[in-house]
Amino acid sequence: MLIKVLNIYYKSNFGLTSLAAFTLVCILFYINVNNRSIMYLPSADNSHSIRSYSPAHKKIQHIEILNPRWFEMPTSEHLTCMGMYECRFTINNATNLDPNADLVVFQFTRLPLIRPSKSADQLWLLNAAEPQTFAKVDLAEWNGYFNYSFTYKRDSNRPNKWASQIFSHKLSKTIRSFDNERLTTMDLKPKVVWFVSHCSNLVRSARLEYALELSQWVHLSIFTIKLRCRRAIDSIKPNLISLLPFSEQPPLSSFHFYLSFENNLCEDYITEKFWKILEGPDLIIPIVMGGLRMEEYERTAPPNSYIHVKNFTSPKHLSEHLHYVTRHKEAFNYYLSWRNSFKLYREDPSEFCKFCSLAHMRPTKVWHDISMHFSRDQCIDVAANNSYCDYYGMSAFKCKNRVNA
Ligand SMILES: *[C@@H]1O[C@H](CO)[C@@H](O)[C@H](O)[C@H]1NC(C)=O
Ligand SMILES: *[C@@H]1O[C@H](CO)[C@@H](O)[C@H](O)[C@H]1NC(C)=O
Ligand SMILES: *[C@@H]1O[C@H](CO)[C@@H](O)[C@H](O)[C@H]1NC(C)=O
Ligand SMILES: *[C@@H]1O[C@H](CO)[C@@H](O)[C@H](O)[C@H]1NC(C)=O
Repeated sequence: MLIKVLNIYYKSNFGLTSLAAFTLVCILFYINVNNRSIMYLPSADNSHSIRSYSPAHKKIQHIEILNPRWFEMPTSEHLTCMGMYECRFTINNATNLDPNADLVVFQFTRLPLIRPSKSADQLWLLNAAEPQTFAKVDLAEWNGYFNYSFTYKRDSNRPNKWASQIFSHKLSKTIRSFDNERLTTMDLKPKVVWFVSHCSNLVRSARLEYALELSQWVHLSIFTIKLRCRRAIDSIKPNLISLLPFSEQPPLSSFHFYLSFENNLCEDYITEKFWKILEGPDLIIPIVMGGLRMEEYERTAPPNSYIHVKNFTSPKHLSEHLHYVTRHKEAFNYYLSWRNSFKLYREDPSEFCKFCSLAHMRPTKVWHDISMHFSRDQCIDVAANNSYCDYYGMSAFKCKNRVNA
């Protein structure tokens, strides 16, 4: 049985119930091979692209994970996935691969400076959670070596794990809405919250500058545990950072808006900063900055589930819209009503089980052009030369200096 499923779920209200859909996703998993979204199981009718699992095939596959960080390590050395695929995981910090490993997982930001040699029949997988601007090596040297790409790119072998988990359903007839009481008891100035943890010079979206300019017209509460972020913010606009310990932080639902600002503007780079808000129960509206174009959000997110900064001519213009939305219940609920007909599910099975299944299934694929697939050219750097001033229509801080200079 092979089911092409996920895009179809999202795009149409077709017959299967969302419960059945969810069950399927739990049992199966999919991969995008040859630019098609395919959920795959051993299959006779698709043997041109997917080699069937044969019992004669080695029972336990050895997966080597190169240079992982703690959260990129499997929780146990052995995994049995979906009741049929067994794998043994090892960690390797050296540049010499185990020639007998069946599948080697390379972490994008920790690729060895010198490409190791690849043994015959070995599969290589590129795993990237960070944008391509974080690259330390020239990916052109790796063209023709990776079999699978696990990036956030739409055309990778694991396209956006979140977007593929959105199901249209008709659960309730009751419109869930932001209650009147909260709108009237809250100070009518929009309350915006931002959690930020990365403020190095690898951040090329100028999100900090944007947020600080926006804070002139809204209540912005910033939470950060990073000294670097605290210093950067305090040097421009002191007293914005809430120093409350985690346990005393106000609930998300006491804010109107949540800044889902990505650290880089790269094609398809939309992360859990956004999805976790949609997934969560809090009736808070995400304000998004990320991807390369607004359409990337339109393509993946439920309709009217967010406000995009690039839809406004300046942070001040955005703030006017936020004021309007805060004062008008129907405007506020406009951004929440998708919750009546869409639901997000967390991905299942785990990433490690996906590696394991790939090692067993061995779908045929070589990335001859990985450097094109995951190129820096798919990003724009608006931090360079303060070009964010024009890009976002900003006027404050360094932008003023620039105009005068
Ligand atoms: C490899 O590096 C990881 C992360 O730094 C560390 O936890 C692990 O103990 C190292 N393993 C070996 C075999 O050196
Ligand atoms: C962008 O603005 C247009 C016109 O005001 C509006 O219809 C649309 O919903 C907005 N989209 C986003 C993502 O904010
Ligand atoms: C994996 O990539 C190599 C090239 O590095 C290729 O020769 C091999 O056929 C690929 N394996 C599969 C299963 O596609
Ligand atoms: C920034 O300015 C430098 C010279 O000051 C120039 O070489 C560079 O191309 C500019 N970068 C961008 C992205 O405009």
